[in-house]
Amino acid sequence: MRVLAIESSCDETAAAVLEVGKERDFRLKASLVASQVELHRPFGGIVPEIASRKHLEVIYPLVRETLGRAGISPGEVDLVAVTTGPGLVGALVVGVSFAKSLAFSLGKPLVPVDHVRAHSLAIFLENAPEFPWISLVVSGGHTALFLVRSPTEHYLLGHTRDDAAGEAFDKVAKLLHLGYPGGPVISRLAEKGDPDRICLPRPMLDSPDFDFSFAGLKTAVLNVVRSGEEFLVHDLCAAFEAAVAEVLVEKTVRAVKAAGIGRVVVSGGVAANRRLRGLFEERACEEGFEVFFPSPQYCTDNAAMVAVSGYFEFTAGHKAGWDLDVYARARFPRYSF
Ligand code: KG4
Ligand code: ZN
Repeated sequence: MRVLAIESSCDETAAAVLEVGKERDFRLKASLVASQVELHRPFGGIVPEIASRKHLEVIYPLVRETLGRAGISPGEVDLVAVTTGPGLVGALVVGVSFAKSLAFSLGKPLVPVDHVRAHSLAIFLENAPEFPWISLVVSGGHTALFLVRSPTEHYLLGHTRDDAAGEAFDKVAKLLHLGYPGGPVISRLAEKGDPDRICLPRPMLDSPDFDFSFAGLKTAVLNVVRSGEEFLVHDLCAAFEAAVAEVLVEKTVRAVKAAGIGRVVVSGGVAANRRLRGLFEERACEEGFEVFFPSPQYCTDNAAMVAVSGYFEFTAGHKAGWDLDVYARARFPRYSF
């Protein structure tokens, strides 16, 4: 079966062709991402209208190029998968309208995909563990912990009450005038810094739930900047990165213990962060669980992960009607221990 997937929830237009064999073996035939980072950079964040218009401009050539690289014609596509949310509504509408028209004209099924679930399932492109797992999705728009029983069963343990972890990286980079997006630049500077020279809080580390909060950490960084005391940007970046990583890792460790599940999958743009990966590996070794990360190109937004999720949705019998709509906010059933 060949899945054509389309992603347009944020500032990346992406398309992919995934071939799934009889043994449920995934072979990625092509995966292209048209990033809008340069367009949004002058604004220090994503401008929704600019994002929608750019998606509209590039979606057709991008899909055509993806099919070309996969070496297939549109008629050889068996199903069309598309991200329907959560994300920027105007941006999602572009991808969904395109996918809908394509599936309709080809006479092929259209399958809706949740962007957050797709991040979590990106691990199937490489080395997915057996179910169940604990999944931490950390991106620019989302920070959430799930108990995952199957590809279509994600139960929410906790999520951020304000900023997502990636959003915090982006906002801290903005206030330090480091540019956009913040994650890669902060982690690059942090490599030469000392995380212990500046003391920053670990928000909600001691709360008994699995929720996160990163807005206060951003304010703590701002207070250091305004304090008038001298500091090295490298050290501040390292301290900030260490604070985010510690909270994410320790809350996940707690979920592992509460659920009695020994496998963790960490995905989303922030999962590309080296310090976070290193700390997870260290703690996994100490606590005796296994941790899995997609390769960096499958951590940040892409359509290959949408294809994987679309395949699983389809095999679970989920198909969209021609009235398929988009949604802005994540919606998962809650799980409590
Ligand atoms: O998953 P993604 O591409 O888009 C969303 O679904 O939001 O994640 C983008 C986010 C941005 O906030 C970016 O700053 C962050 O991921 N990011 C990183 C790194 N690379 C990207 N954060 C920390 N360290 C990184 N190396
Ligand atoms: Zn994403």
